[in-house]
Amino acid sequence: MDKYDEISFDDFDEQINPKPEENDFDKILEVAITRRGLLKSVMAVGSVATLGSIAALSPEEAVAAADRFAFKHIDANTLDDITVPDGYTAKVVTRWGDPLWSDGVDFDHATRGDGASQEKAFGDNIDGMEVFAHGDKTIMVVNNEYTNRKIIWGNREEGKFANDDDVLKGKMAQGLTVVEIAEDENGEWGIVKDSPYNRRVTPDTPMELTGPAAGHDLVKTSADPAGTTPLGTFNNCGNGRTPWGTYLACEENFNGYFSAADEEHKVSPELKRYGLSAKDWGYGWATIDDRFDVAMNPNEPNRFGYVVEVDPRNPDAAPKKRTALGRFKHENAEVVVNRDGRIVVYMGDDERGEFLYRYVSNGVFAPGAETDSLLDDGKLYVAKFHDTGAGEWLELNPETTGMASMADVCIHARIAASTVGATTMDRPEWVAANPRAPEVYCALTNNKNRGIKPNAGGDLTPASGPNPREENHYGQVVRWQPNGGDHTNNGFAWNLFVMAGNPKIHSDAYAGSANVTEANMFNSPDGLKFDSNGILWIQTDGNYSNAEQFEGHGNNQMLAGDPNTGELRRFLVGPNECEVTGMTWSPDKRTMFVGIQHPGERGNSHWPEGGDAVPRSAVIAIRRDDNGLMG
Ligand code: FEO
Ligand code: CA
Ligand code: CA
Ligand code: CA
Repeated sequence: MDKYDEISFDDFDEQINPKPEENDFDKILEVAITRRGLLKSVMAVGSVATLGSIAALSPEEAVAAADRFAFKHIDANTLDDITVPDGYTAKVVTRWGDPLWSDGVDFDHATRGDGASQEKAFGDNIDGMEVFAHGDKTIMVVNNEYTNRKIIWGNREEGKFANDDDVLKGKMAQGLTVVEIAEDENGEWGIVKDSPYNRRVTPDTPMELTGPAAGHDLVKTSADPAGTTPLGTFNNCGNGRTPWGTYLACEENFNGYFSAADEEHKVSPELKRYGLSAKDWGYGWATIDDRFDVAMNPNEPNRFGYVVEVDPRNPDAAPKKRTALGRFKHENAEVVVNRDGRIVVYMGDDERGEFLYRYVSNGVFAPGAETDSLLDDGKLYVAKFHDTGAGEWLELNPETTGMASMADVCIHARIAASTVGATTMDRPEWVAANPRAPEVYCALTNNKNRGIKPNAGGDLTPASGPNPREENHYGQVVRWQPNGGDHTNNGFAWNLFVMAGNPKIHSDAYAGSANVTEANMFNSPDGLKFDSNGILWIQTDGNYSNAEQFEGHGNNQMLAGDPNTGELRRFLVGPNECEVTGMTWSPDKRTMFVGIQHPGERGNSHWPEGGDAVPRSAVIAIRRDDNGLMG
């Protein structure tokens, strides 16, 4: 292990729930191997029934579609820089550690800051983001998903915390950053220090728990005996945006922050399903705050794993944890207003073999009317995909799951979903709904356990349906159309928009679907978002070795996809060892904002400042040189 090797969230989870010695996998492997032969033949004919069945194009439409991308393809590369097509320019807006107030201190490359400076500065590892127009102000909200311990504590031996303030610095690097941004006379974006909208939401910020789980015994703690006022949010991955102008931050790998002083402490089976154990991921929060000692406070982890609603225009309002949307490792929350006004939220649970969920509000959205109950009062569903290309949403409630109450269903959504026989997925990352058609896409990033190991609940993961490849290192994007174009319909039709792969070294299913070529290949789709023109933007968080089965993929990247033709074109390549994640647009759509997360996570980047600088996660602004629209 070199200095920078850190175990990933996913491998951390593997240690807590290792492959059972005895399992039924040997039986299903046989089925999976037979299926591999089948898959090959499907690929040969029409690339997994991917394209064409959803939207066949007339010749005129095909000509129009060919011009839908306004940019020229760029090649893969391994430069420690941002690469965008000719005619576009990318500039840094703000970085990890930039102070939000004039009494904060500038980022110190020698110490990488301290607890106090970090609490007043932009957080680390940028993920989901949105920009909100508010009068003549522009407010950006960004998730700061986590922090790379060996970077933030790179001033210490072995990159480990050396004292309580180091732990606090790591804690304050997480949560959310809310910051006003503005363009200067040259059209360059920067943050507005001391704006009344600037705010850090941290793992200690007071919040409100709402919906079915609020006040339930499982969320009561000694500090909050009513079970309604949890503190803080962290490991916020992707995001959502409501039509009433609020931001949704999604809590993902919350398990890795809890530990117990007694390393032999055994957690409940319910906590284990969520990856809790006596050992944390290396942040040491329990060493400065008993709240994170799972032996002392076994209900504290039940207060994380939610979608958190934040009002960017009201810096004093407590964020609300919306428990009706279920508790799991939330990636993002894609909000759709159904044609009857009901709010539909699509959500992935990003862990190997976990599930895809849908929430449907009971009430309807009307501009100006009350919206507070729309994310508290509704129904929760989980997806089941059939090999036929059909699928269904299975409702999770006390009757279908045998659980005692809706609070139990929401708090233990994973267990509820296993009970009804949901389809185990290849790590559902972002979900994106097409604004031009009733169809929804989800990035299934990869799953090395497909066909090999059950999920943490013991559900088998045979290669089938939208997860057709064993030991899936490349990932795919599945899409579905709700029956009748109605997002509240429990039936849908699905197919694969793309299977990532490497046609340079494989000629079977691992080459990828027909729309993957040596010019546009990639692995591990993660961030997904549609622009207002109906172009699907895909961001990757994959293997950047550029070697062996990833040869030719280069650094992590961003591509544009045409839902009608399936064409994919590379738009951006990120700096070394980064993930490209999170995107949004300025109110005038002339700027696209993109997040660059964990550059140099293995010690090989100095982006964005270059030289000997510490690598820093940053938001970049991309504009056309002719000041044209960006989406
Ligand atoms: Fe935070 Fe699933 O990525
Ligand atoms: Ca992600
Ligand atoms: Ca990812
Ligand atoms: Ca990553």
